[in-house]
Amino acid sequence: MKYPKEYLDEIKTRLKVSTVVSKTVNLKKRGKEYVGLSPFKTEKTPSFTVNDEKEFYHCFSTAEHGNIFDFVMKTQNLKFGEAVKSLANLAGMRPYTFSKEDEIREEKWNNYKSIFNKYIDHYHNELLKNPNSTDAKNYLKRRRLTLEEVKKFKIGFETNDINFQDEIFKKFKENEIRDSGLFYFDENKKKFISRFRERILFPIRNITGDTIAIGGRILKDSDYLAKYINSPETPFFKKGSNLFNLDFARKLSNNLNNVFLVEGYMDVIGLSKNKIDNVVANLGTSLTTRQILILNQFFDEIVICFDGDESGYKAALRAAESSIIELKPEKKISFLFLPDNHDPDSFVNEKGKDFFLNYSESNSVSIHKFIFDHYLNNMDDSPSSKAIFEKKLRSISSTIKDEFIKKYVLEYFLEKISEFTPNTNKKFNKYYSKPSKSLKSTQNYYNETKSLKAIDIKEFSFLYILLKKPELIKHNFNLIENVKLFSGENKLLFNEILKQTKNFKITLIDNINVDQSLIDRVFKYASVKHIMVKNFNNDHKILEILSELVRDLKNYELEIRIQELESRFSKDLNEVTFNELKELKKLQKIN
Ligand code: UTP
Ligand code: MN
Repeated sequence: MKYPKEYLDEIKTRLKVSTVVSKTVNLKKRGKEYVGLSPFKTEKTPSFTVNDEKEFYHCFSTAEHGNIFDFVMKTQNLKFGEAVKSLANLAGMRPYTFSKEDEIREEKWNNYKSIFNKYIDHYHNELLKNPNSTDAKNYLKRRRLTLEEVKKFKIGFETNDINFQDEIFKKFKENEIRDSGLFYFDENKKKFISRFRERILFPIRNITGDTIAIGGRILKDSDYLAKYINSPETPFFKKGSNLFNLDFARKLSNNLNNVFLVEGYMDVIGLSKNKIDNVVANLGTSLTTRQILILNQFFDEIVICFDGDESGYKAALRAAESSIIELKPEKKISFLFLPDNHDPDSFVNEKGKDFFLNYSESNSVSIHKFIFDHYLNNMDDSPSSKAIFEKKLRSISSTIKDEFIKKYVLEYFLEKISEFTPNTNKKFNKYYSKPSKSLKSTQNYYNETKSLKAIDIKEFSFLYILLKKPELIKHNFNLIENVKLFSGENKLLFNEILKQTKNFKITLIDNINVDQSLIDRVFKYASVKHIMVKNFNNDHKILEILSELVRDLKNYELEIRIQELESRFSKDLNEVTFNELKELKKLQKIN
């Protein structure tokens, strides 16, 4: 029996020729190719070349020539089947066995592809030609898409075409229709219903370019319909193992070292429209280590660029903590945060390709720095908070699989910790006491960016409102009096405002007895500035914003307190601690 072409193709797409060859031959990059000493002959000048783009190797002194299978067969003296097995293993794929089950699966796979091809072809055409698709077309125009992107990504519109559905129901068996995930069976109506009806269709392709799933977007945002729905898991679509646009992006890996990992379909398409095509999206689920490993097969650097809002930040943190586990010495993972609530789509459309790439170049931070800064910004001056901080960083570095990376990431963390705990970390300082210049500059950098994390910006915004609307605050004092701030400087300013508000009629900035630089920072970083300007005389709106900020700050305080207690409880297993913890968690739910 023959191996199915798809299986061999998948091995080939997953493994660059240079990856396979460099296991036995020392290769050096020269232009688009690699060169090395021929494995077929002893020689002093390299005459052996590898071309990843064309997927072959060539030896000028022996005229040996072939693909990765040929190479392994010849250099390791293996039969074809053995070479396939060994390379599939290297590519992280299941070995192929020729059982009855495999034959059935092969047939299922062919039907699966066939349903998807028909479905996508049909609804892509409907979008282009059917007058019922006018709203969808206009929508895509509003999103600045042109015919070029619509064709490139084969975007469709599900017009709920009954005749087409009948055709599918006639041609395919019930279980094939069910397994495609394109339809679900309605138990009441006793019939199949089209899952993505009246949605814009974004085909999701696997690594070899076959469409295996769909992402569907509604045209008008609505309260009761999800903005996007994605195909359910099917026998051939496993969310954590796929990435949107991987098949296009990986083709660029011969010329580009890095790949952007973004959140959404529209981000990929927006970047592609601006001629940035080394982009993939993780399909709205948490990033898996499997996805990181796949990207690492092709690219040396992954730049994770999620939306510039709070949920994007949270997703990035989750991604950082799960992907640092797989960090390898020759690979790099970094994070790019976009300003002003932009997502990659809106940012690149507003600023253009060059600006985006330059911005990325100068603003991405490495994974270990991002993690460190995050926890540092969540730490206050209390000993327990510091202890939690150090423990957390140690535990994160202990998850890293590669021993070398583990060692150096831990060293990085400890060195940074020792910078601001000079007394307690004397012992550590003894071993790492080269007070280098680079450390000072990173410290400066850290000082600057430190003020820009989510919680700080909330504090600045909160203080900004207090400073700008003293009269309103005076009349709503109860709203703010029990708020607790975390940054030392902000606390100082806040205490002054509280004092003033209690003593006098209203607080005037000039009467506040703090260093002007504290006030300047508030004015510089408060993210509510624009909303405040717009709504300056709308007290109702301002109180609403203020209440929301107060709620967030209180939740943050709760979160910190819970972390403290959890850490204490894990040591003392004390009933009182536990009950307190339970109460706090209840409170957190209510808020
Ligand atoms: P976003 O809401 O950021 O998507 O969600 P977007 O691409 O910016 O959306 P629009 O079209 O510009 O408004 C990011 C990704 O999260 C998943 C989708 O994969 C989306 O592309 N998602 C989002 C869902 O799966 N379901 C949802 O309801 C929303
Ligand atoms: Mn988005």
